[in-house]
Amino acid sequence: MSLFALGRLDGIQEKGNETLKDIYFNLDKSIQSLRNISTELRPLILDTLGLFPSIEWLLNEFYKKTHIKYSIYNQVEENIKGKTISTGIFRIFQEALTNITKHAKATKVEVKIYKQDNKIYFEITDDGIGIDNSKSKSPFSMGILSMNERAKLIRAQLSIEQVQPHGTKIIMVLNLKNNHD
Ligand SMILES: Nc1ncnc2c1ncn2[C@@H]1O[C@H](COP(=O)(O)OP(=O)(O)O)[C@@H](O)[C@H]1O
Ligand SMILES: [Mg+2]
Repeated sequence: MSLFALGRLDGIQEKGNETLKDIYFNLDKSIQSLRNISTELRPLILDTLGLFPSIEWLLNEFYKKTHIKYSIYNQVEENIKGKTISTGIFRIFQEALTNITKHAKATKVEVKIYKQDNKIYFEITDDGIGIDNSKSKSPFSMGILSMNERAKLIRAQLSIEQVQPHGTKIIMVLNLKNNHD
């Protein structure tokens, strides 16, 4: 976006402008292929291991990258293998962890997965600075928006809460009834 904006500034010479367009075009293509690669990589681990081990793998990768500690408590015995549901939940976890990496300044992350009344609850809690509401509602906040969209697709409810004294909790509730895949 900054490149795009730069290209529109007055006073940039014709030649420089062409170069900017090239960079912009190539960057855009790279982002596209990166997206394709990561969406193609995703089902591999999900298909072979199912959802829960994939979440553990994700957390472990997150730890290797950030050195933020995590704990995982999973009370649900049967693994989730359905493609749509497991992909949706996996993606929501991915975005939540990316946000913790980028914004939270957290020292630890707690994941809880449990079952109640035919629903599975997924909670991701960090002990970071918490979400500044004015920022999360900005039109550039595509991450939270896409988490909500993904939740809708699998008919899960997603909510985000402030944690005391500080931090963020994401709660996802997946209704197992009428949710076939
Ligand atoms: N775990 C978190 N801790 C603190 N702030 C957060 C967290 N997750 C999201 N935010 C805030 O909410 C905003 C919106 O997040 P998101 O929609 O994912 O957009 P982006 O990550 O691209 O900024 C972030 O810019 C950040 O200010
Ligand atoms: Mg984000």
